[in-house]
Amino acid sequence: MCEKKTFYITTPIYYPSGNPHIGHCYTTVACDTIARYKRMQGYDVMFLTGTDEHGLKIEQKAAEKGVSPKAYVDEIAEIFKGLWRFMNIKYDRYIRTTDDYHIESVQKIFKELYDRGYIYKGEYKGKYCTPCESFWTESQLVDGKCPECGREVTEAKEEAYFFKMSPFADRIEKLLTETDYLRPKTRATELVNNFIKPGLEDLCVSRTTFKWGIPVTFDEKHVVYVWIDALSNYITALGYLNGAHDDYDKYWPADVHMVAKDIMRFHAIIWPAMLMALEQPLPKHLAVHGWITFNGQKMSKSLGNVVDPFVLGKRYGADAIRYHILREMALGADSSFSNEIMINRINSDLANGFGNLVSRTVAMAEKYFGGTLPVERESGEFDADLIAEVTALKAKVDDCIDKTQLQNALIEIFKVVSRANKYIDETTPWVLAKDEANKIRLATVLYNLLDTIRVVATLLSAFMPTTMPKALEQIGACEKCASYENAGTFGALPLDVTVKKGEALFPRIDVEKEIEELNAIIKNNDGESEEIKEIREELANVAQIGIDDFAKSDIRVGEVKACEKVKKSKKLLQFSIFDGADERTIVSGIAKYYKPEELVGKKILFVSNLKPVKLCGIESHGMILSAVHGEGDKEQLKLVIVGDDMPAGWKVS
Ligand code: MSP
Repeated sequence: MCEKKTFYITTPIYYPSGNPHIGHCYTTVACDTIARYKRMQGYDVMFLTGTDEHGLKIEQKAAEKGVSPKAYVDEIAEIFKGLWRFMNIKYDRYIRTTDDYHIESVQKIFKELYDRGYIYKGEYKGKYCTPCESFWTESQLVDGKCPECGREVTEAKEEAYFFKMSPFADRIEKLLTETDYLRPKTRATELVNNFIKPGLEDLCVSRTTFKWGIPVTFDEKHVVYVWIDALSNYITALGYLNGAHDDYDKYWPADVHMVAKDIMRFHAIIWPAMLMALEQPLPKHLAVHGWITFNGQKMSKSLGNVVDPFVLGKRYGADAIRYHILREMALGADSSFSNEIMINRINSDLANGFGNLVSRTVAMAEKYFGGTLPVERESGEFDADLIAEVTALKAKVDDCIDKTQLQNALIEIFKVVSRANKYIDETTPWVLAKDEANKIRLATVLYNLLDTIRVVATLLSAFMPTTMPKALEQIGACEKCASYENAGTFGALPLDVTVKKGEALFPRIDVEKEIEELNAIIKNNDGESEEIKEIREELANVAQIGIDDFAKSDIRVGEVKACEKVKKSKKLLQFSIFDGADERTIVSGIAKYYKPEELVGKKILFVSNLKPVKLCGIESHGMILSAVHGEGDKEQLKLVIVGDDMPAGWKVS
């Protein structure tokens, strides 16, 4: 059997120095869309995101809050994950730079670079801000003062390690100017002129003035510079120099790293230099997008112009927000966010454009044919034009996805939506319906519309994964006819297709009323949406339990006497567990990971005092404990199997 082709895509790992905002959503939604599209095309996809949790800033933020840096990042990492669930982001792996395996790999990478002679010890000289404990370069100063706190800086020096970048200058210049690594390539000139032509300076890659970082193993007063730590995530997450994962050979080099322009230099120069020094293959593409701005400025908490995606998603649905941000931003340019533009776009493209096309077509199929079309056909004027546009669409979208041009992909898809709406005006089904003699022609027109919607909704499902399955259901498309393979051909719906009217896919929004309400929310907002507060509360509730809470669970050793698959389910196994006194039935959702026969005779741990529940009609008396790692398709699971010397019935305490 031939192996599936792989596709590896990454977002930057975000700083958990504040709550995520709509700007963070852009990159993650864009990567999620590409990942979903590639999965649909049959690729074996690895989509990585995560949080970049070390550094002075995090240490300071945690100190301000009076908590440890780890406790601080634990909470915000959960808020990021909560946002990704809310936005329907299906990542395969989430890396935190405080994960042990990442720390281990970064230490090995640093040592490897040192052993190869690319890292050496030197002295860092610069302007130092004592309260912020930060070095700044002359160009970073604002009016000669610290850009963080505005206080005076002094000339200072500190022992530090440096990474020699100059040996890679020529290769990096070629990478930027002669290959299609950088997207858009127009940005290569600024990089070459600003950083390479003046001579690539060695990079200071260790700090001694703060502790919240990865210690250099051979000189423990130094911690690894946060960018060496952060950039390494793209390979450590695959298991490079660690045993936690084993996919490096499978997925590396990455197909796409996507980042915003502010961190382009790190990904266009420093990251390739690190990989060259390690003699590892280079990623294939670096897609650089602009910022979502608000009143012309980058969104930031300190400017008070942060747009909270939870608030918007709750009002209009995550899909509408996904669509809006992807449709607004051209790769490489900034895009100015405004509530008004967003609402108008949702109304025009989603409610009036696509939503209306679906609801009108389905309503007409119900009204004129009771929901099921007759199988006879009679083609007519305008059909060929519509069909030609529909059948050409898939290749165009494929091409845009391959070039990371999601805005263009949506423009192409919505051209077809407009074409279909125009086809309704051209063919005037309501006029055809007046004369019984036109019945077959009318059925043909409606079929052509339904099949157009099928193609559009299939291709859009990577962009708007919640709503498109609903659209496909309304037009009566089964899973197979709504497959990616069928998106390039016309006529995949059965001739006697049956539609099913459903709720409005994108309800029209009252612009004035909404703007007023959104403004009121911004005014009364104390900086955090209800959803973020809820995540914090949930965490506070589960983060720590008293010993009394723990003592409520009765965990025991059990022996597996029998185990079989539950007939009606793909996921469940039914166990007969000897608990020291009796045999009890426990149903567990681990069929994907174990064959029943390999578990018989094993000693496991189980929670014995859970209230019984019925699963697939079988009453389950307890829960078998297992360890899980990873999420989604990449989830791994191992049962907690204990030694034979543990007698069944013994209590874990
Ligand atoms: N931690 C580093 C990245 C390390 S990657 C090895 C970092 N983090 S960040 O939290 O500041 O996030 C930067 C990324 O968030 C940007 O590259 C971009 O992908 C996204 N965005 C944050 N604000 C944004 C906008 N206002 N607009 C668009 N994207 C933005 O830098």
